Amino acid sequence: MSKNKNNNRTLPRAKGMDMAAVYLPHECERKVKRIVLHPTNRQIVDEFIVILDKRDDFIAHDVPIPNKVVMFGPPGTGKTLTAFYLAHRLQLPLVLVRLDTIIHSHLGETASNIRKLFEFARLTPCVLFLDEFDAVARTRDNNDEVKEMSRVVNTLLQCLDEFEGDSVFVAATNLEEELDHAVWRRFDTRMTYANPDDASRNEYLRLLLQDFACKEGTDLQAASLFQGCSFADMEQIVLKAKRKAIIAGTPLSLEQLQGSFLEYKPRS
Ligand SMILES: Nc1ncnc2c1ncn2[C@@H]1O[C@H](COP(=O)(O)OP(=O)(O)OP(=O)(O)O)[C@@H](O)[C@H]1O
Ligand SMILES: [Mg+2]
Repeated sequence: MSKNKNNNRTLPRAKGMDMAAVYLPHECERKVKRIVLHPTNRQIVDEFIVILDKRDDFIAHDVPIPNKVVMFGPPGTGKTLTAFYLAHRLQLPLVLVRLDTIIHSHLGETASNIRKLFEFARLTPCVLFLDEFDAVARTRDNNDEVKEMSRVVNTLLQCLDEFEGDSVFVAATNLEEELDHAVWRRFDTRMTYANPDDASRNEYLRLLLQDFACKEGTDLQAASLFQGCSFADMEQIVLKAKRKAIIAGTPLSLEQLQGSFLEYKPRS
C-alpha cells in the first residue's frame, strides 16, 4: 500500500458517503496527539504498518495481508481513537460510519447500505470504521427480528470475505459476547481494550498536564486518584480541574483535581 495515497486531497463524492464522516490523514493526526496505547496494541499497529510496507513480500510468500481489525472493550478506552491513529499511520482517510444512518427499518435496506460502504472502500483506499459494530453483527439467534438480522449478518459475512484491496476495515464494540461467531471468525486482527493500568494512567496524566501550569508533583500525586477511571473519564476530570485553575488564576493543584473528581463522579 502506498503510504501517501489520498493525503491532503478531498475524497471523491461517491454513492454511500452520506452514511459516513470522512477525516483526512492530517485531521486524524491532530486527534491522536495524546493517545496512550497498551504495549500489546501498539505492537499490533506497528506490525500492521510493517506488513503493509512489505506487501510484495507477503504476496510472494502467498501469506494474506491482514485488513480486518476488530476492537472490543469498555467505553472511553481508545477504540475510536485507535481508528484515527491507524488512519494517520497508514496515511489513509478515515471513513467513520454513522451507524444510525445505515440501520434502516425497511427490510433489506440495512444490508444494501452495508454493501454500498464496502463497495466504496473497495474503490477508494481508506480505513473504513464501523463503530458499535454489535448492532449490525448481533448473533442471529439472539434477535427478535431474526429474518432481517440474519440477512444483515449474511451480507456482512459476504462483504468481509470479499474484502480486498488497499483499504482496512475496522470494527469496534463494547459487547464482545454479542457478536455472531461467524462474523467474529472473519477478523484477522483483534485488539482488546481496558481501563488504564498504573503505567498508562501516569503516562496519560503527564500528557494531559504537560502544557499546563501545575503545582509541583501534582501529576504524580494525582495518578492514584484515577484508579478505575477510563481515559475518557480522566480527560473530563482534568478539563474540569483546568477550568477551576483558570477561574482561580492559580497553577492547577491536587485539590482542584480532587474537587473535579467528586463533581464528575465517574462510573467505574
Ligand atoms: N487510550 C487512550 N489514550 C488517550 N486518550 C484516550 C484513550 N482512550 C480514550 N481517550 C480519550 O477519551 C475520548 C473517547 O475515547 P474513544 O472515543 O476512543 O473511546 P471508545 O473506546 O471508542 O469508547 P466507546 O466504546 O464509548 O465508543 C478520546 O477522544 C480521548 O480524548
Ligand atoms: Mg468509540
